[in-house]
Amino acid sequence: MDSLLAKYQIGLPLIDEQHARFMQIIEDAVKKISAQKNSKDIAVFDLVQDLKQYSTVHFLYEENQMKKHNWPELATHKQLHEIFKKKVLEFSTLINSSSLMNAGKPKELAIFLKEWFLNHIQRDDRKFAEFVQQKAITSRGV
Ligand SMILES: [Fe+2]
Repeated sequence: MDSLLAKYQIGLPLIDEQHARFMQIIEDAVKKISAQKNSKDIAVFDLVQDLKQYSTVHFLYEENQMKKHNWPELATHKQLHEIFKKKVLEFSTLINSSSLMNAGKPKELAIFLKEWFLNHIQRDDRKFAEFVQQKAITSRGV
């Protein structure tokens, strides 16, 4: 959990762990992109693949948890995930189609992904965590 600041932890351990891994991938992408002049660099390509794959796996896990807990805001949350996945695809297309780093565009987009993700954790995923925690308290009759 070192790479994820305490303030981004929502208190659901498995999801927190996945968020930390996700942030690591995005941060690596930002770093690699900043260091490369050529977007055909294999390390950047691999990271984009990781990002695509991991976002699908992670979002699916979250959505299944939300379903399991009958969270009423699942549909809205799913839409947010879709928006992010589209951005990741846009990012991947940009990386694949440009031989040069397109006047800082990929880096800009990578930073956008990072900020979006952090905001999403803080605002949207936290809402779900609070719902789960509240449910646990209620069912204990406290
Ligand atoms: Fe989420």
